[in-house]
Amino acid sequence: MGGWVSHLWWGGDPDAKHPVSGLTLREIHAVQKSWAPVNANAVANGTELLKRFFRAYPQTKEFFKMIKNVPEEKYADNIQFKAHVVNLMSSLTLAIDNLHQPEVVAVMMNKLGESHHRRKIPQQNFHDLKTVIVKMFIDVLHLDGATLNAWGKTVDFWYKHIFDSMKDNE
Ligand code: HEM
Repeated sequence: MGGWVSHLWWGGDPDAKHPVSGLTLREIHAVQKSWAPVNANAVANGTELLKRFFRAYPQTKEFFKMIKNVPEEKYADNIQFKAHVVNLMSSLTLAIDNLHQPEVVAVMMNKLGESHHRRKIPQQNFHDLKTVIVKMFIDVLHLDGATLNAWGKTVDFWYKHIFDSMKDNE
């Protein structure tokens, strides 16, 4: 049903931008298609993503009590870390699966902003995570330019609504 209504909204044009997200159906499809193999092995890929993030920005480990004094080869044995990976990947999957109803994603991202605001996570850490995600996609998935551009727009749309709820963290 949601899909039918959304298609009407877009007028069936795969290159028409949705007024809320700025994303086209073609871009949504590119993001969903490239995410599918990542999500098929969610725990391993999420663990790899966080390892790369902590390597590039070691100070962010301070927020993660469960691993801050654990060597990275032991992360996978830590059940709290694994739970966090599952949370992160599930949240990204929800935000990707629902791109055709961006108003819903915006509310989800507002909630995420609230929970991270309570943890006093700086917005810069989100930008740093985006850099790591995009680099990992280039290194591992060899994504083409159009797909990378679609990812950039998608993450910026998420972040706009995350940051709306954490304005005074800067
Ligand atoms: C797109 C970006 C992100 C997504 C989708 C995301 C998602 C989540 C989710 C779903 C949770 C668990 C539920 C909740 O507390 O809201 C969580 C927890 C957490 N996030 Fe994020 N997060 C993101 C970025 C970040 C960044 C940049 C940091 C800090 C460097 C961070 C630090 C944390 C911490 C410390 C927790 C609690 C972990 C625990 O104790 O289990 N997150 N995140």
